[in-house]
Amino acid sequence: MFFQWLKQYVPRSLYARAALILVVPVVALQLLVTIVFIKRDLEDLTTQMTATIQREIALLRQQARGARSPEEYLSRLTPYLAPLTMQARFLPPDAPPPQTALSLNEFSGRVVREKLQRELEGFVAVQFPEDRAFLLYFDTEVGTLELALDRRRLTAAAPHQLIVTMVFFGFLMTVISFVYMRNQLRPIKKLADAAQAFGRGRHLSYSPRGATEVRVAGSAFVDMRARIERQIEQRTLMLSGVSHDLRTPLTRLKLGLAMIDEDEAEPMLRDVEEMQALLDAFLDFSRGASTGEPEPVDPQQLAIAVVEAWQRQGKDVMLGELSGAGTVLLRPQAMRRALENLVSNAVRYGTRARVSVALTEKSLRLRVEDDGPGIPASQRGDAVRPFARLDPARNQDLGSGVGLGLAIVTDIARAHGGTLRLGQSEALGGLSADIVIGR
Ligand SMILES: Nc1ncnc2c1ncn2[C@@H]1O[C@H](COP(=O)(O)OP(=O)(O)OP(=O)(O)O)[C@@H](O)[C@H]1O
Ligand SMILES: [Mg+2]
Repeated sequence: MFFQWLKQYVPRSLYARAALILVVPVVALQLLVTIVFIKRDLEDLTTQMTATIQREIALLRQQARGARSPEEYLSRLTPYLAPLTMQARFLPPDAPPPQTALSLNEFSGRVVREKLQRELEGFVAVQFPEDRAFLLYFDTEVGTLELALDRRRLTAAAPHQLIVTMVFFGFLMTVISFVYMRNQLRPIKKLADAAQAFGRGRHLSYSPRGATEVRVAGSAFVDMRARIERQIEQRTLMLSGVSHDLRTPLTRLKLGLAMIDEDEAEPMLRDVEEMQALLDAFLDFSRGASTGEPEPVDPQQLAIAVVEAWQRQGKDVMLGELSGAGTVLLRPQAMRRALENLVSNAVRYGTRARVSVALTEKSLRLRVEDDGPGIPASQRGDAVRPFARLDPARNQDLGSGVGLGLAIVTDIARAHGGTLRLGQSEALGGLSADIVIGR
């Protein structure tokens, strides 16, 4: 409960957390030391010093015992006042009784007053009129005596010095530690950036640095990235090699079939053509999602270009809502291919298609909707798999696809660090396919 509540106030970035980890103990320590210092040392010290003054007053009183007038009282005290660095005088009998005056921040003054009030016989008041002076009033047999002495005989000189020094050095140390800490954190940040960029299909140059553990994670990442890149390359090479090498014998086969009797050759020719179409799709797939380098692309322009191309072919493809202007880092060819694939599905399985773009601070969404039968939620997972064609009864006469279209789109979306989401179009009733990419 408490930690859940606390969590929302804890900063998210590593730097801020590190700063917090550095600052909190230092501040806590300083608070603790300050409190203990004031409470114990300062209070004890003041109490002890006050006790000394009390003993001196006891001595003075003893000397003046039996005096019958203020003048006599003072004359008896005189030999002692100079060595004790005190001055004394009697208040006139008609003077108003003096009041204790303490400013708010007077911590040790309060301790002095409390101790004297408790223990000094005839105590009237204490005053700290200026920086260095201390006035004590107490009753004697012959009137109220005012005793003036140096304040530093009672309280520690400049006790806040320690606290100021501590805060200053605490701050200085924290700043220095943070500078060092930041150097330790930078490699982690670099690694995070490189990993994020790779997830979005970009290759940032990165070399492991920093503490051992970070280095280990860094080189593991570099190895992993190299392996994945190698695998993608191999897949592409293999698929395109196979498709390419199969083309030549297929062409020969087609030529051979052309010489045979037409009726017999006809079904075989169709098979060969289908195989050729398959190979084309293969090649397309193998070219992969990562062709070309990412560059700033205006997604609205991209959508407009795709829609216009389809309209020129006489298809009912229109532009939907375009919201948010700006550019996004995309591989333009690949992204265009993804959109083409979605629109080609839309006009194959439906009759009308609509393309819309929503660009926000955080993400880009390209949506293609149609008025076809859609894909039931339970089959959406299958539909995006390579070579998956759904329930042939649904789209018998629509020409047979290879089943790679949505797989290619998914691939391209992933290579941009995004996903393909299938749903049902509210406006047109058919499939709604979203390519969603984080920025
Ligand atoms: N807009 C859509 N409306 C209804 N069903 C769709 C739609 N798009 C795809 N499907 C279904 O999902 C299956 C897979 O689509 P995908 O694009 O991957 O392959 P394809 O269109 O059959 O072949 P290809 O695109 O490779 O020529 C399709 O066979 C079809 O059944
Ligand atoms: Mg398709």
